[in-house]
Amino acid sequence: MNPSGPARVIASAPSKVNLILRVGATDEQGYHALATVFEALSIREFVVADLSGEAGGELPSVRTLVYEEQVGEEPRLSSRLTRVFSELDPESHLAVRAARAMGGDSRVSLTVHKLVPIAGGMAGGSADCAATLVAVNELLGLGFDLSRLQAIGRTLGADVPACLVGGISLGTGRGDTMEVLHPGTVAPRPLSSWWVLVFSDRGLSTPRVFGALDELRERTVPTASSAAPTITQGQLNALREPDSPLELRDLLENELQDAALSIRPELRVIGEHLVAMGCLTWLVSGSGPTVAGLAPGKDAALRTARAVESQKPEGVRAVAVAWGPVPGAMIERTLPSWADSMPGRNLTD
Ligand code: C5P
Repeated sequence: MNPSGPARVIASAPSKVNLILRVGATDEQGYHALATVFEALSIREFVVADLSGEAGGELPSVRTLVYEEQVGEEPRLSSRLTRVFSELDPESHLAVRAARAMGGDSRVSLTVHKLVPIAGGMAGGSADCAATLVAVNELLGLGFDLSRLQAIGRTLGADVPACLVGGISLGTGRGDTMEVLHPGTVAPRPLSSWWVLVFSDRGLSTPRVFGALDELRERTVPTASSAAPTITQGQLNALREPDSPLELRDLLENELQDAALSIRPELRVIGEHLVAMGCLTWLVSGSGPTVAGLAPGKDAALRTARAVESQKPEGVRAVAVAWGPVPGAMIERTLPSWADSMPGRNLTD
């Protein structure tokens, strides 16, 4: 490790929802061939990397502060979820693994400001990875380009390349070979999509959902799954320039949804509730359990989210509004105000 960059770097990376998710056959490692379109969402993870750690060890250190979304207000630090993270084995922390993959050692110290739920189907762990790759690249003055970061990222998690590129992007292979269809913007535009996200109070394991899909297909689909599922040119063209929320609504499709619902049927009730409250449609985000309602616009999203938040249905941890598409992982000059305050203020629990 030859540090030659700045003393402290802040980077962020987006969460995602899969607008289209088609699942094919498994490869030798048990991964499924995917054709998927990601939309990078405005709920971002922030990682601060510096060189305040002691020399002599292999493992970068990490501190994770977990925040809770609140509709229309700044997120609040959750002492309970922060405590859960502090008990995790650092070697299994995706940010630590990303810093190591970049050649970082115990001199590298990471602080992850975490908003995207764990095991929520929104690529929270992959966003931590992507932000860390970008931060450590800068901190150590490595100068790796985006394609090299993507190559490292896909060894850490299938959604990491999507969090690196952002925008609306097509993922093929394991969902980790990217083509950007539409760039993300730093501020919402008239045609940005607005989502109401309902976070569950417990995670759902991605391998378990893929396994449930395989079982469902064995029982109901006699032919073998495609080795390379596809998305039609017409769909791709529409996703390059979506021209209304209604058009986007008609494109949404998630082949993991029935599998996620077979494990957690209560998610359907939440989705149908979102539509009854004003969303155009709903879907499970990736492998779930986050339920995403597509709203006709910002005001409707805020109204619906506030209503669901005030009802606090059983099994719901938090409700949030997000928009997309936003840019992928990037260097930031400052932390957002909610992450910059002293830990201990604004505790949710
Ligand atoms: O790569 P990542 O850690 O995000 O994937 C988690 C798990 O999800 C994998 O171990 C695999 O069981 C499943 N998966 C899959 N096919 C993919 C991506 C993930 O089966 N394309």
